[in-house]
Amino acid sequence: MGMLVKLRVALAAKPPVLYVVVVLLLPCLTLGAGAIVPIPPLKPVDSITAEKIRLGRSLFEERLLSRDNSVSCSSCHDLSGAGVDHKPRSIGINGAVGDINAPTVFNATFNFRQFWNGRAKTLEAQIDGPVQNPKEMGSSWNEVVRKLKAIQTYQDRFRKIYPDGVTPENVKDAIATFERQLVTPDSRFDEFLSGKSALDELAKKGYENFKSFGCISCHQGVNVGGNMYQTMGVMGNYFKDRGTPITEADLGRFAVTKREADKYVFRVPSLRNVELTAPYFHDGSASTLEDAVRVMAKYQLGRQISDREIDSVVAFLKTLTGKAPAVLENSRTTAGAKAQ
Ligand code: HEC
Ligand code: HEC
Repeated sequence: MGMLVKLRVALAAKPPVLYVVVVLLLPCLTLGAGAIVPIPPLKPVDSITAEKIRLGRSLFEERLLSRDNSVSCSSCHDLSGAGVDHKPRSIGINGAVGDINAPTVFNATFNFRQFWNGRAKTLEAQIDGPVQNPKEMGSSWNEVVRKLKAIQTYQDRFRKIYPDGVTPENVKDAIATFERQLVTPDSRFDEFLSGKSALDELAKKGYENFKSFGCISCHQGVNVGGNMYQTMGVMGNYFKDRGTPITEADLGRFAVTKREADKYVFRVPSLRNVELTAPYFHDGSASTLEDAVRVMAKYQLGRQISDREIDSVVAFLKTLTGKAPAVLENSRTTAGAKAQ
């Protein structure tokens, strides 16, 4: 709680004392100064759900979902990598450069909202975004349904699960059902939390720092993030210091609510598998974890931290790399290789 008191004092000059109380203090009070919990085991699935998962995976890797049949969900969310594209901003059809960095689809099911600005409530609703975004897949549901219906095997696979066959709702249901399997359990940190193994000295120190610095007041819960909105630049003007023009994407939740207070507010990202998902931040501006941690300490906590402290926090963050999703067991992923 020491850090919160300090934050309140530091911000007393600005209006957001109430903001600090509501946004930083409340989550701490309700969740005990922030806690991280292990990924729960997946529930066994019935045979219809298993079919949906297989169909969902096919659709996730299906280029017909894009206007010129060139891009699939997996083009930007590489399933054999860590569910990202490793680009500062994604590239869609016709080489269009997107507006924002692609977050991973791994463990997205645990985020309380989808997208950096939280504009989609569910994984299903999220899918309307990429399919229709002119800088991503640039298609429409009519077109997608027409193209899928033209393929007999898709017709058959949909009918087996859904009486009404190929519809936008069913495409979304299948993909989201697949995405809910994309969880990466049994990270070294989860094993530590459940008492199965210890952390090495540096990672242990890093976890202590992560708590005492106050990182955990924003990055917490099952996804070590993904359960609240926060301003980027609580303790300093990140965007001014970045030196490049402010984009629409930088405005964060403001795009959704149009409320001044929501400018530069983002859903806090998950830190699971973060060692594998560079570059970092919504603008892809940090290319290493060390950079990202330094920026966070400065702009979110008003702290200058030493290289040694950064190394410890990075060592801790690396313990958040989990096992590859079991549903992908046929294809070995980096996440899996790391965890073994
Ligand atoms: C051209 C690259 C591209 C394609 C194709 C693409 N995505 Fe994304 N995806 C992104 C970007 C960029 C974001 C972040 C957008 C934002 O927050 O405004 C994103 C966000 C997401 C999220 C939210 C994750 C989170 O933590 O908020 C999910 C889930 C997702 N995509 C799934 C999909 C699915 C399913 C498809 C296929 C139907 C797909 N994506 C196609 C680039 C892409
Ligand atoms: C006040 C809330 C808050 C605090 C405190 C905070 N973060 Fe963050 N963190 C965020 C937000 C919001 C973002 C997304 C910012 C953006 O993309 O512009 C973020 C992004 C990150 C990222 C990049 C993740 C990615 O996938 O791009 C890392 C790594 C990170 N934080 C680590 C830390 C560490 C380590 C600390 C402590 C030194 C910390 N954070 C403290 C809110 C916070």
